[in-house]
Amino acid sequence: MSDASPVVTPAIQITGVTHVFRGKGRELAVLDNVSLDLPTGGFVSLVGPSGCGKSTLLRILAGLLAPDQGSAAVAGVSTLLRPGLVSYMPQKDLLLPWRRALANATLGAEVGGAPPAQARARAAALFERFGLAGFERSWPAQLSGGMRQRLALLRTFLISRPVLLLDEPFGALDAITRREMHTWLQQVLRDDERPGEAVRSVLFVTHDIEEALLLSDRVVVMSPRPGRVVAEVSVAFARPRSASLVVSAEFVALKATLLAALERR
Ligand SMILES: Nc1ncnc2c1ncn2[C@@H]1O[C@H](COP(=O)(O)OP(=O)(O)OP(=O)(O)O)[C@@H](O)[C@H]1O
Ligand SMILES: [Mg+2]
Repeated sequence: MSDASPVVTPAIQITGVTHVFRGKGRELAVLDNVSLDLPTGGFVSLVGPSGCGKSTLLRILAGLLAPDQGSAAVAGVSTLLRPGLVSYMPQKDLLLPWRRALANATLGAEVGGAPPAQARARAAALFERFGLAGFERSWPAQLSGGMRQRLALLRTFLISRPVLLLDEPFGALDAITRREMHTWLQQVLRDDERPGEAVRSVLFVTHDIEEALLLSDRVVVMSPRPGRVVAEVSVAFARPRSASLVVSAEFVALKATLLAALERR
């Protein structure tokens, strides 16, 4: 390592991550020399075919899985096998059916060591903003798909880390609800800019190219397994972005670029 530290430390820095799953005489190469940076306050999406290693990369970054090679760091601190440095929403919402909505929301914060009463008060204050006011005492089974996703996101927000890893947070939703959630997520992130606290940086996994373009500053395209980075596309549209942006000529042209990158691999 050289002593020359970069002028600005990226919020997320993944360098040369390679991983092979091994078991019962079988080897599955999943990630091949993946590197990517995310600036503080940035929103970067990761797209790629099913099984190319997107969720595996997030689990590595979340400190839950050690890669065979490479490094992953948040604000210059290695996260390898150090869970708790980021707020991570796994691909499945993992709500506990036997806890009410409010108790589900506080789960991650409590596991992270926050006093339960304080976690409950902070969660209760967020229910309105996440469109869940009045449902604090509902069971997960009594919530719609969109509400469950918002509750899982609320729980992730409550684990107040500057880096958010979101793995297909809207994957289970219909197209209309999904569009509503795009507007809503942008609003939540804007409202989230808290004086004196680090602005959040987001790494977002999705299969939906329009969703990626609408929400991101940059879209990273991965190849089929073993996943490599095959293209990075900058998305410079001004914010806030409305749903109607997707029919503009500039947007459609970027979408074509991304589709070509996915097909080229
Ligand atoms: N714990 C594990 N042990 C063995 N193989 C695994 C494990 N986790 C994932 N895999 C395999 O690694 C590959 C990549 O999985 P991963 O979940 O990272 O893909 P993905 O890009 O997130 O896919 P999707 O878009 O469908 O969510 C898959 O073939 C999967 O079967
Ligand atoms: Mg996945």
